[in-house]
Amino acid sequence: MNILGKLFTAIFVVMIVLTTIISPQSKAVNDDQWNKIKARGELRVGLSADYAPMEFERTVNGQREYAGIDIELAKKIAKDNGVKLKIVNMQFDSLLGALKTGKVDVIISGMTPTDERKKEVDFSNSYMEVDQKVIIRKKDVDKFQTLDDLKGKRIGAQKQTTQEELARSEIQDAEVQSLTRVPEVILSLKSNKLDAIVLDSAVGTAYLKQNKDLTFSKATFADSKKETAIAVPKNSPELLDRVNTTIKDVEKKNLIAQFEDKAAEAMKDEGSFLSKYGNFFVTGLKNTIFISLIGVVLGAVFGALFALMKIGSIKPLKWLASAYIEFIRGTPLLVQVFLVYFGTTAVLGLDISAFICGAIALVINCSAYIAEIIRAGINAVDKGQMEAARSLGLNYAQTMKSVIMPQAIKNILPALGNEFVTVIKESSIISVIGVSEIMFNAQVVQGASFDPFTPLLVAAILYFILTFTLSRLMNVFEGRLKVSD
Ligand code: ARG
Repeated sequence: MNILGKLFTAIFVVMIVLTTIISPQSKAVNDDQWNKIKARGELRVGLSADYAPMEFERTVNGQREYAGIDIELAKKIAKDNGVKLKIVNMQFDSLLGALKTGKVDVIISGMTPTDERKKEVDFSNSYMEVDQKVIIRKKDVDKFQTLDDLKGKRIGAQKQTTQEELARSEIQDAEVQSLTRVPEVILSLKSNKLDAIVLDSAVGTAYLKQNKDLTFSKATFADSKKETAIAVPKNSPELLDRVNTTIKDVEKKNLIAQFEDKAAEAMKDEGSFLSKYGNFFVTGLKNTIFISLIGVVLGAVFGALFALMKIGSIKPLKWLASAYIEFIRGTPLLVQVFLVYFGTTAVLGLDISAFICGAIALVINCSAYIAEIIRAGINAVDKGQMEAARSLGLNYAQTMKSVIMPQAIKNILPALGNEFVTVIKESSIISVIGVSEIMFNAQVVQGASFDPFTPLLVAAILYFILTFTLSRLMNVFEGRLKVSD
């Protein structure tokens, strides 16, 4: 026990040392941002596509595409500089981290250049001015006419935005509640969990069209006008210069007005919910099944390895396996997902896709749980079996292979099936880094349809169909195993 404690302390210390040595801050001046983009031939633009008319997703003839003012601007920057464009869609509050760790090259996401943010990143010239408004339920129009009326009320905003700040600074004693994505903010207001929300007026208008129970309040902010600019990593003068050149051109030719028209056109919706968004869910379903399978199958391979290490008699391996299993099972999957996603670039310097990062995180997570399943399965086989086999002259390996394992498998398989069901549900967590599984697609549809509720319902049904079918199959299978006893 004491040795185990020391081992944990050692691991902890090594981790602290690693993070301080390799933290992103310690990177030297990097003037080569632009060269990297040029060499790659691709500009990676980070944004949070929950913000029509600035950025959102839609389907055209069954094909998904990004649309909006920021998307048009991004396309122009890529075109002006002869590189391809890659949109990286993620949560708004993950964008700055992604830029700083090099996951994206620029952020074009309706972002306001605040003093706080300027400490972390640089900003281009402003390309748009936006206005901030309060949205309330229609039945409260008379009740909430001024900011004073909202004193002490529950006010919602998107996490880490200027709207959140505005709610704090201009509404007295506001009980500010921040949510990661705009549709969640809208849904919370609709379902009475909030009294009002702060949102960009153009974005608000887009959501109000689809949510007739909501409306703008007459209340106005003193500091409501905000600039919008493109964020680039610090010390990247060439990249900044190129971005600003495009912005100047946009201003000269008055292109923002054109971009707005195009976005408005793209926001018009035709067709039924399923015909428009069905294939988002199909993609999500496929990816959820695929990534959960990877999680369980590879998780079982590594899990078996860790289980054998833990059961075995080689002390260092035993400790290593125990430490791994305890650590993984003692930390949330959400944290592991972020650690893998940002760690692979910030610490290891690798450029790995979100899908692979998500898969790695799931495998790491599953292997720890499966290791315990396998260990328990083996331990559950009666001790006498080992003794009997050994006294008959079989060696340890032979006994394991022909006597213990065949019996252990019967304990392990059903538990593995349960683990699969768990993984299918848990895999929804990797939506946070932008892996296109069911939950992520539900969120995309929330943003595209301005309907925060229906997509969640569809997601819930899909998960249920998956897990229910799987557990039925497991039952049949377990029945067969019993018969063979
Ligand atoms: N303008 C606000 C800010 O900079 C909100 C931007 C939110 N953007 C988005 N794509 N959700 O904080």
